[in-house]
Amino acid sequence: MEPVGLSVNGNPVIVAASPDTPLLDVLRNHLGLMGTKFGCGLEQCGCCMVLVDGNPEKSCGKPLSAVVGKEIVTIEGLGTPDRPHALQQAFLDEQAGQCGYCLPGILISAKALLDRNPSPSRSEIAEAVDDNICRCGSHIRILRAVERAAHLLHEGVAR
Ligand code: FES
Ligand code: FES
Repeated sequence: MEPVGLSVNGNPVIVAASPDTPLLDVLRNHLGLMGTKFGCGLEQCGCCMVLVDGNPEKSCGKPLSAVVGKEIVTIEGLGTPDRPHALQQAFLDEQAGQCGYCLPGILISAKALLDRNPSPSRSEIAEAVDDNICRCGSHIRILRAVERAAHLLHEGVAR
């Protein structure tokens, strides 16, 4: 198996894995990035969402061969506890989650939205996270948190 190169959270990485290895497995098992979650494994729940060249993609169904040379961003690439991304701060502020299992995927979908539309309407937010299932039913708080994040970014009080 030929080692392949990709960029993860701004860092070049070399991975020795079979080309059909799901990107989710590469992230978790080869690179130790455990923030991206395994839910259904069938591209149905969205908790494995990552950005691939800026687009939200379900990593459980994306083979390594499809992302060679691409820019991958996972939840670990958004921010840190010391320097959270506006979305992370807003989700904390709104307590937008119960178990939190869906949140890495939801924040990735929301980041893709805010990157292309900094002032989304509530219906645009709902559409952007429509592929992400939250089994805890935190939907209203999640919508409020994305609105808050857009406001934080607009005011320049978070990055
Ligand atoms: S684990 Fe990928 S969509 Fe559910
Ligand atoms: S907070 Fe539990 S699945 Fe969304």
